[in-house]
Amino acid sequence: MTGLTPTTRELCLVVILLAFLVFFLSGPNSPTSSVNLSPEAIVNSKDLSLSSADDASAQIPYQYGNNRLIGFPETTIVAHVPGWTIFDKLYIYNGTAYIVTDHSESIPDRNKMISTGKPIHNGPEEVASRLPTDREMRIIGTKEAETLFGANSASRIDGVSWWVNDPSQFIMHYYHWSAEIFFGLWRAYSSLDPTIPANGSTHLPPPRRMMFSHLDAAHWRDYASMNEWVTRAAFPSISFEFSQDWHERAAMGRPWVLERVLLADRSAAMKSYNYLRTQRTASVPFALPGSPHWWATIRHSVVLFSGFRPEMQEKDKYVITYISRQEWGRRMLIQRDHERLVEELYKLRDTYGYEVNVVSTEKLSRVEQLQLAGRTTIMMGVHGNGLTSLVWMQPTRRSTVMEFFFPGGFAHDYEWTTRALGMVHFGFWGDRSFTRPDVPQVAYPPGFQGNEIPIDGMLVARLCHERLTLAEETDD
Ligand SMILES: *[C@@H]1O[C@H](CO)[C@@H](O)[C@H](O)[C@H]1NC(C)=O
Ligand SMILES: *[C@@H]1O[C@H](CO)[C@@H](O)[C@H](O)[C@H]1NC(C)=O
Repeated sequence: MTGLTPTTRELCLVVILLAFLVFFLSGPNSPTSSVNLSPEAIVNSKDLSLSSADDASAQIPYQYGNNRLIGFPETTIVAHVPGWTIFDKLYIYNGTAYIVTDHSESIPDRNKMISTGKPIHNGPEEVASRLPTDREMRIIGTKEAETLFGANSASRIDGVSWWVNDPSQFIMHYYHWSAEIFFGLWRAYSSLDPTIPANGSTHLPPPRRMMFSHLDAAHWRDYASMNEWVTRAAFPSISFEFSQDWHERAAMGRPWVLERVLLADRSAAMKSYNYLRTQRTASVPFALPGSPHWWATIRHSVVLFSGFRPEMQEKDKYVITYISRQEWGRRMLIQRDHERLVEELYKLRDTYGYEVNVVSTEKLSRVEQLQLAGRTTIMMGVHGNGLTSLVWMQPTRRSTVMEFFFPGGFAHDYEWTTRALGMVHFGFWGDRSFTRPDVPQVAYPPGFQGNEIPIDGMLVARLCHERLTLAEETDD
């Protein structure tokens, strides 16, 4: 019967149209970027965020069979730099990733997308053993897909997946996870929303699942249990799949299709120019577009989850946090120099009213560490995992990281990460300090790991005061 009341079908159409309207009005109008795209970067400018049609609402009412694709639509590459690739409709069959396309000339070199996922060691044979084969990834045409997958249509793995194809080697470590792999995952993914404002809000849907193809559930957590804290705080609904799940899906003998997946592969990322300069795989996705506030989404989620409230921060009160390793037993300051540094910092506190915290991370709970980092203006310490907390600092004009090395020694880990967040880094060799662009070559001289690292506490304190009063900026 036709009447004036709308049918369910008409109502559905109106709802879908409204959803589209809301989506397009709230999306970025003209994504602009402060970053120059490197020749290695591919960005498919259309379709940068999942359309609402792909969202969970499209599954209501749930129709049996809707979770399967009709035919084998082509895979598209949404964004790519070596080691970090976002695909739409990537097929997985018998444990192999299939790119289905009749335009294979537009597909990046397979070596720059995936590897065998073997642990990373030096030497030409080791490098060769990580080069991908047809077992890891194949690029096939639509006709071939029909023949290969046969009558079995592909089952959708919906939403956004993050697939980490690395072994546990660099994962079970707070720095390498939170400040490198997870950091890089979000930097690559958030390239799809280059307009993230300072408060971190974004229309990008959070990843629904993390897939590890080469490690089991017992091999991604770190000894301090920070990896799971950070990941679950950032994405409370994320679920995990491990190598058992990967093999299980393979053994089922049916094709799967990942609606949208970000594939991260450390060996593949090592083929990039940015990696060669910094030895940081997370530096590679910085060749993609991105908001200067790209990390705010994650930082805010994690520090809020950890109990930090902006009200906890007294206005114009600057916080200096020295992360001491003096009881750690490895890579420590000369004890006298440590004591002198603490004295000088306390003098600053007494003279200028700065808050000074001298802490050993192993004595703080996770919540205490994260809350303190969230309030810290200047973080300092000997090169080491404790400095990973710098990723939770609020980047402001004064935010600074000071890292003490054994003279002659240098590594990019915290230096690069600090700059990636728009903060200032100073390295120290005893009574000498250095900052970009005048940083030394990477070196691990004898003494680097030792307990006789010198530091000039007066120099550190002077630099703290300069940074907090922005002295070098008032000069010009
Ligand atoms: C599935 O992969 C295994 C290797 O793990 C291989 O031996 C087998 O031939 C493959 N099966 C099909 C149907 O491709
Ligand atoms: C975040 O900032 C944007 C743009 O400045 C604003 O439109 C939005 O309402 C803010 N969101 C929150 C949760 O404050």
